[in-house]
Amino acid sequence: MSALVEALEVERAMRGSTRRGVTRPAEEAEGEGEGAPRGGGEGRQRWVLRLEDGREAVIDRRLTLGCAPDNGLVLDDPFVSGWHCVVRRMGSRVVVVDCGSRNGTFLGGVRVASGELRPGMRLTVGRTALRMVVEGPAIDPGLIGRSAGMRKLKQQILTVAPTRANVLLLGESGTGKELAARALHDQSGRTGAFVVLNCGAISPELVESELFGHEKGAFTGATARRSGVFVEADGGTLFLDEIGELPIGLQSKLLRALEERSVRAVGASGERRVDVRVVAATHRDLRTAVQERAFRLDLFHRLSTVVLDLPSLRERGEDVPILARYFLDQMAAESGDKVFSPSAMEALATYGWPGNVRELRNAVQRAAIFGGAVIQPADLLPASVCGEMAGGEAVAIAGRRLDEVEREVIAAALRRTAGNKRAAASALGMAKSTLCDKVRRYRIEARG
Ligand SMILES: Nc1ncnc2c1ncn2[C@@H]1O[C@H](COP(=O)(O)OP(=O)(O)OP(=O)(O)O)[C@@H](O)[C@H]1O
Ligand SMILES: [Mg+2]
Repeated sequence: MSALVEALEVERAMRGSTRRGVTRPAEEAEGEGEGAPRGGGEGRQRWVLRLEDGREAVIDRRLTLGCAPDNGLVLDDPFVSGWHCVVRRMGSRVVVVDCGSRNGTFLGGVRVASGELRPGMRLTVGRTALRMVVEGPAIDPGLIGRSAGMRKLKQQILTVAPTRANVLLLGESGTGKELAARALHDQSGRTGAFVVLNCGAISPELVESELFGHEKGAFTGATARRSGVFVEADGGTLFLDEIGELPIGLQSKLLRALEERSVRAVGASGERRVDVRVVAATHRDLRTAVQERAFRLDLFHRLSTVVLDLPSLRERGEDVPILARYFLDQMAAESGDKVFSPSAMEALATYGWPGNVRELRNAVQRAAIFGGAVIQPADLLPASVCGEMAGGEAVAIAGRRLDEVEREVIAAALRRTAGNKRAAASALGMAKSTLCDKVRRYRIEARG
């Protein structure tokens, strides 16, 4: 694979998609600029790919995997191609790109051309399974934000983490459920691994084996014995993402495993005891799923000992500039020091971020890569969105009185935020009370 093709694949993986579904090639990253750890002690972390036999390779900038001897990680597996895939680390974002291998590269059980490899996730090439593990101090700070909603969430995480309670994380896509799950593990004091299973990303037939493991020959294709995520997370935390997608037939088996604290691998005769703390997440309304009998009530109760709601970014607009600067800082080691122009900051504050923090992070990372030293709105948001925000809203100032211009600027901001005074005030960099005073003084009609 040429360097250009690889770079394009990495960019594609970084753009990712917030679409939910079976193949979700890549979405997220967080963390710090490589080579220049800032603040969080990330420099002391080790990012490794670990094989089931315990061998491991450190993921530096670029690690190639394959059976040819000049790979960074040489895999002795006849089902692995010579140069099978490449793993690239940019700060704390790790992306894997398949190099046109014959048998494919699988992330969490899903075949991908490229995708993000997150801590705790399984990477499979040929018959070889690897897991990415981050060792060392927790990412600090892991959850960025100073809004009341974030402060409450962080406090809840600190309170619940050391207990054995199962936790259900609810929130829109991109609000940070996986990050919160990792924070719960990092703060738990549990010494085992943090293991992720995305129940929505694997075919229903394979979920049971992914959860509990299988014996050799248990079903067609089970060429070797494999342990499931419960065993891998023994002593640690199992993050069951997209729990709402778990097939109903398996829900009773999961419930049993949680109640008995033991699992039986597919095709095995005996049980194995496990000590696993389960954190589950979903963007679906599980209560409705329970009413519709798509989700078992008893499992819902078992998983939701503690329910944590992750606020959408819309509900915590004051965190947007903080997060944006944080993500831009993370990119500094690779893209150089850049700043947002005032209009870019305004665009960030005004836009609704339906994809939440993930969308914001992707926008900032793209702008850091492709934008100039001073990032402009068009670097961050699609032209259609910028056009909508700026087009027809330009306020002519020549020869006009300041109060007239101010009135128009405030009215335009309120139109853009559909009458939301808090969002408009934040976009204009003024206190909400000041905006309300001016709305009264200028007799601006504000909807909402
Ligand atoms: N408060 C935060 N501080 C810093 N980064 C955050 C925060 N919230 C989310 N992120 C980043 O945004 C991205 C998306 O977060 P995450 O994957 O945890 O979302 P999610 O709720 O699991 O989304 P989905 O439902 O689509 O799986 C990640 O890169 C994560 O690190
Ligand atoms: Mg998630």
